[in-house]
Amino acid sequence: MEKEITLPTGVVLREPESSSLPESQKHFLLFIPWDDKYLSNVPEKYRSYFLDCLPELGVRTTDVHVAVCFSFFEKLILAYEKEINEMIDRDVVALAFILHDIGWSRLNEKEIAESLGIKGLVLTGNSLTPKEKHAIEGEKIAIEKL
Ligand SMILES: [Fe+2]
Repeated sequence: MEKEITLPTGVVLREPESSSLPESQKHFLLFIPWDDKYLSNVPEKYRSYFLDCLPELGVRTTDVHVAVCFSFFEKLILAYEKEINEMIDRDVVALAFILHDIGWSRLNEKEIAESLGIKGLVLTGNSLTPKEKHAIEGEKIAIEKL
């Protein structure tokens, strides 16, 4: 079955230059290349910390993902503060934004491919282990960086 994906204007998908994965699995490693234009989404206050973490945010397009999520930062916080009727520490949320997926940098290509090994909306059995591992590795990196 032929598949077609429409990307927003200006968004490029790139394959890694080399990979040990079989041809049939290389699509799992497609990523959106980092571009400094995404940095404008990160509030000035957190840019330096984000840039310190950037070398470890490239796997699974986490760098672009995190930067783009920052465009919803204030809106999400305000909505949640309204819901719980309490102020939220923006610095803590910003650090969580930056660090939440950093653990992917410690997984190999096979684990990344397995983590994205989905059929329809159901995760395959193999996809849970890498997802758990990214959380465990991410916690270790966060402790080092914080
Ligand atoms: Fe994420």
